[in-house]
Amino acid sequence: MLVPPPARLLALAAAFVAAVALSAGPGRAQDKKDDPKPAKDEPKKDDGKKDEAKKKDEAKKEAAKKVKSKLKITVPQDDAELSIKGSREEKTKPTGTGREFETPDIDPGKEYEYDFVVVWKPNNYTTMTRTKTVTFKAGDDVTVDLTKADPKVPDKAVVRWVPTPDDIVAKMVEMAKVTKDDVVYEPGPGDGKVLIAAAKAGAKKAVGIELDPAKVKEAQGKVKEAGLADKVTIIEGDALKDRDYSEASVVFLYMGNEFLALLQPILEKQLKPGTRIVSHRFVFGADWPPDETKTVTGQDGDEYKLHIWTVGKKGEKKAKTETKADDKKDDKPADKKDDKDK
Ligand SMILES: C[S@@+](CC[C@H](N)C(=O)[O-])C[C@H]1O[C@@H](n2cnc3c(N)ncnc32)[C@H](O)[C@@H]1O
Repeated sequence: MLVPPPARLLALAAAFVAAVALSAGPGRAQDKKDDPKPAKDEPKKDDGKKDEAKKKDEAKKEAAKKVKSKLKITVPQDDAELSIKGSREEKTKPTGTGREFETPDIDPGKEYEYDFVVVWKPNNYTTMTRTKTVTFKAGDDVTVDLTKADPKVPDKAVVRWVPTPDDIVAKMVEMAKVTKDDVVYEPGPGDGKVLIAAAKAGAKKAVGIELDPAKVKEAQGKVKEAGLADKVTIIEGDALKDRDYSEASVVFLYMGNEFLALLQPILEKQLKPGTRIVSHRFVFGADWPPDETKTVTGQDGDEYKLHIWTVGKKGEKKAKTETKADDKKDDKPADKKDDKDK
């Protein structure tokens, strides 16, 4: 059964829908059939009252003609934040995976466009954002499934900063067998320690794409301090958006399974055969298992999983290995010790 929306939401949605209705282009809005006709006679003394009553009457008739649309939205998690975006953005209450709303009175026959934005945390280090734009006719019921990505609008993934310990960074660089001919890329380099280690190991070029401006500054400072500014570049931006990884011969990762799931098609398309990918803890989808997984004990006594892939020729089928992906609902960012850094 339809749940009546909270009064606040309804008021906000009313403002939103009114704005959407106003901005609807002429091609998308149905013509009004009963536009008021211009008065033929000269106004008489008591015409004012009559006009007012007539106007009220017409307004009533207009209101009676309006319709509502029922919106049924499914979100990925009970506590996901759902926003309905129009001329202004409004957040709704996290009330389970199935959410139902009703639009305020809207004009029958007109088309409306709503943006639905859902933000959720699959674990305590990843924030996912998914957007869907839906166009519907006033009065029609609308079903929006936000549990699946919209191929037209890629999901966004933001992973919080948790550093790889220095001795584990050294193991990653060793595992990738970095040489003077290598061009190293790292999505989310944080303070730049992996790129600096790779450059020290001889890489001719190292590039990091970091979302957090404060980390970009920190990493750039550390690169300068190390005297590696001619080799290591830190770019500010989203490593999943419009990136070209095609010159990489080595890619380092410590970014979470959800992020890797979004990065996988980009790397599969862009990386050349022979490129090595070394990931601290996290893996791609089951269709791209690592070639090798090593468990190493850090100086802190904790165990760390390091995975390596070597990109094959395009279309080359990989033999399935027994290596398993880490549990996607695992709430530990990397190890218990890292949590206290946050
Ligand atoms: C888990 S830390 C890893 C830091 C470093 N790679 C290391 O191993 O020490 C993840 C880093 O990625 C950055 N980050 C998160 N989401 C990102 C995105 N979509 N694009 C680029 N950087 C991102 C974070 O700001 C953070 O510095």
